[in-house]
Amino acid sequence: MVLHSWISSSYILVNFLLLISCGMTYGTETDVFCLKSVKKSLEDPNNYLKYSWDFNNNTEGYICKFYGVECWHPDENRVLNLKLSNMGLKGQFPRGIQNCSSLTGLDLSINKLSGAIPGDISNLIPFATSVDLSSNELSGAIPESLANVTFLNTLKLNQNQLTGQIPLQFGAMARIKAFDVSNNFLTGQVPIFKKTVAVNFANNQGLCGGPSLPSCQAKPSKSNMAVIAGAAVGGVTLAALGLGIGLFFFVRHVSFKKEEDPEGNKWARSLKGTKQIKVSLFEKSVSKMKLSDLMKATNNFSNTNIIGSGRTGTVYKAVLDDGTILMVKRLQESQYTEKQFTSEMGTLGSVKHRNLVPLLGFCMAKRERLLVYKNMPNGNLHEQLHPAEGVSTLDWTTRLKIAIGAAKGLAWLHHSCNPRIIHRNISSKCILLDAEFEPKISDFGLARLMNPIDTHLSTFVNGEFGDLGYVAPEYARTLVATPKGDVYSFGIVLLELVTGERPTNVAKAAETFKGNLVEWITELKDNEKLRDAIDESLASKDVDSELFQFLKVACNCVQPTPKERPTMFEVYQLLRAIGDRYNFTTEDEILVPIDIGDSNLEELIVAREGSH
Ligand SMILES: *[C@@H]1O[C@H](CO)[C@@H](O)[C@H](O)[C@H]1NC(C)=O
Ligand SMILES: *[C@@H]1O[C@H](CO)[C@@H](O)[C@H](O)[C@H]1NC(C)=O
Ligand SMILES: *[C@@H]1O[C@H](CO)[C@@H](O)[C@H](O)[C@H]1NC(C)=O
Repeated sequence: MVLHSWISSSYILVNFLLLISCGMTYGTETDVFCLKSVKKSLEDPNNYLKYSWDFNNNTEGYICKFYGVECWHPDENRVLNLKLSNMGLKGQFPRGIQNCSSLTGLDLSINKLSGAIPGDISNLIPFATSVDLSSNELSGAIPESLANVTFLNTLKLNQNQLTGQIPLQFGAMARIKAFDVSNNFLTGQVPIFKKTVAVNFANNQGLCGGPSLPSCQAKPSKSNMAVIAGAAVGGVTLAALGLGIGLFFFVRHVSFKKEEDPEGNKWARSLKGTKQIKVSLFEKSVSKMKLSDLMKATNNFSNTNIIGSGRTGTVYKAVLDDGTILMVKRLQESQYTEKQFTSEMGTLGSVKHRNLVPLLGFCMAKRERLLVYKNMPNGNLHEQLHPAEGVSTLDWTTRLKIAIGAAKGLAWLHHSCNPRIIHRNISSKCILLDAEFEPKISDFGLARLMNPIDTHLSTFVNGEFGDLGYVAPEYARTLVATPKGDVYSFGIVLLELVTGERPTNVAKAAETFKGNLVEWITELKDNEKLRDAIDESLASKDVDSELFQFLKVACNCVQPTPKERPTMFEVYQLLRAIGDRYNFTTEDEILVPIDIGDSNLEELIVAREGSH
């Protein structure tokens, strides 16, 4: 994993070595100073930096453990990459970055940064190979000096409010491979690149002269524009212009996704030339397939075939010619190479358990990664518990069966599967239900695929809002995925099952209580009113004690301190004991885990998964 960034930066490394041998020092204090000033200049409403970036330490290399910070060497305070994506950060572009003088990668995407990109940015990040400022609120023009960041491979400025012309100097950049300025308000002639570059100019007001853009001739020249602007003096015109731009932005904001591609399957249509690619299958029982069969079965991945989407990707329903129904997941962009991906798929394809959704096969075409799963006719637990209309029809017996089966699947991933797997995305949406309402966990092993460089950070940071209610509180401090983090998320699912409430708000107490489900439970517990939490539609004399015991297990899982939570194996045993009289299943019981302490287990898994 380190290798990847190592290779892409090796050229720069040589550069640094040269500079160092010429007597320049790369003081590590400057990098500490850099991070201090970055922290100071950004507003951090979610307190990600507040807790993780703790400067009360003089150990060499301590900043390398900070959230989003990658160093050249773990024992040296010298920052290689800074990845602060999707943290709700506000403020201007952090100029303090210039003191991280060995920085090669900067990712500030999906935040609320505003103001202009500094005109002297090439002095601030002279050695950057990758800059991602996409999905912010940056305005003003793209500075010419960005084209002077000589080593730049990837530049993403999409989804901002940038205006003006794109400096034509970008066309001459020697190393640029990907250039995305889509969804801004840019105008004028686009740069002509000398080499093959993946460009995206889509959704700008008036760009011209590039691939799939109008030619520039018909446009009024700059001097004409000046004349027009000069003639159109007057506040009224300006105000109208302002209104126009505001309206344009509003309209675009609301509907640009649809405008861009009404079918939502442009990506699939672009795979035309690759239809003969075979789907690699793990199960002999499934008949051979090509990509063309998947395309046909999903109506070319039409929007109407989408049956779910989450942080790892979008799931399509696929109906084969013989009537077989499958689920095809289009993965979110993965940074794995084809070889790494194939090897990872080989591992996941061999992970089989009654309570896991079987991965039947996968397919790689261009940059797309498609996973083929067995279909689960009863959808996911979230839909069943919180239907769009009406109330859930899941009775207590079914809910208990689902809890026990899902606990078993997750316990198996944690304790018995080889390699052991931390799920990291447990929620009621990833627990799927077959025709008999037997639960099957989906999405296991996928968190790692999203971003192999900083796996344990990425799952937390890239989380979509919907899954927030499931994130264990310690992740905000430790940022390391652990089995106990999964236990917490699973506890939330148990709470959903027994209360019928959603994780993020409590409908039952909407009048009097504003917090989330866990906060509500905690309050009830403190007031010894825990019983009030139970979904009334489930309550009956027979099952009262089961409901209450179940609720207590759920409460243990969501303890704020990880150590106080049971292991998944224990959760499974506790739930199974509650459901003892129902004889749900007896086959493939989980073996008692080999006697290693729980803390050892965490280290083991973290070492394996978070290695970088
Ligand atoms: C930070 O960078 C600026 C500009 O290169 C430099 O003048 C200043 O001394 C640096 N500060 C520290 C503490 O290294
Ligand atoms: C300082 O950081 C190092 C490395 O992260 C850590 O091992 C050590 O415990 C920290 N010391 C203090 C006082 O926090
Ligand atoms: C970019 O680099 C060139 C050549 O070194 C220099 O002439 C030019 O002034 C620089 N532009 C900016 C905006 O820094």
